[in-house]
Amino acid sequence: MKKQILLIAASMVWAAGNALAADAAENWAKNCASCHAKDGSGNTMMGKKSGVESYADPKVQAKFTDEEAFKSISEGKGKMKAFKDKLTPEEIKALVAHIRAFKK
Ligand code: HEC
Repeated sequence: MKKQILLIAASMVWAAGNALAADAAENWAKNCASCHAKDGSGNTMMGKKSGVESYADPKVQAKFTDEEAFKSISEGKGKMKAFKDKLTPEEIKALVAHIRAFKK
């Protein structure tokens, strides 16, 4: 019985994790990919114009901490506008994790 409950709990956590990942990918495609590109490379017209760097590059990833990325996304940085009115802190945190996954 205990084992069954554990299994149910584990599959619920797994489903919730998947839902979050899907949201981050969707939010990225909707709000960020126009500049940063779908794959995080920054290889878009807007990206080239505004000077975004490739998040596939570990050196670029090392330039900011998760906290700094969170702040830049929330409050804006350089040519990037603030997203705190559009996205919840949870969504922004999920986007930071999404960005880290672009690293090669
Ligand atoms: C209008 C184009 C544009 C859009 C849209 C955009 N960004 Fe950016 N982003 C930039 C530019 C340009 C920089 C470099 C800013 C600088 O260092 O001056 C940047 C920098 C960043 C950084 C690095 C922050 C740091 O502290 O160095 C992160 C993380 C980031 N963007 C995430 C996102 C996320 C997540 C979204 C979508 C919610 C997004 N960006 C949407 C243009 C954009």
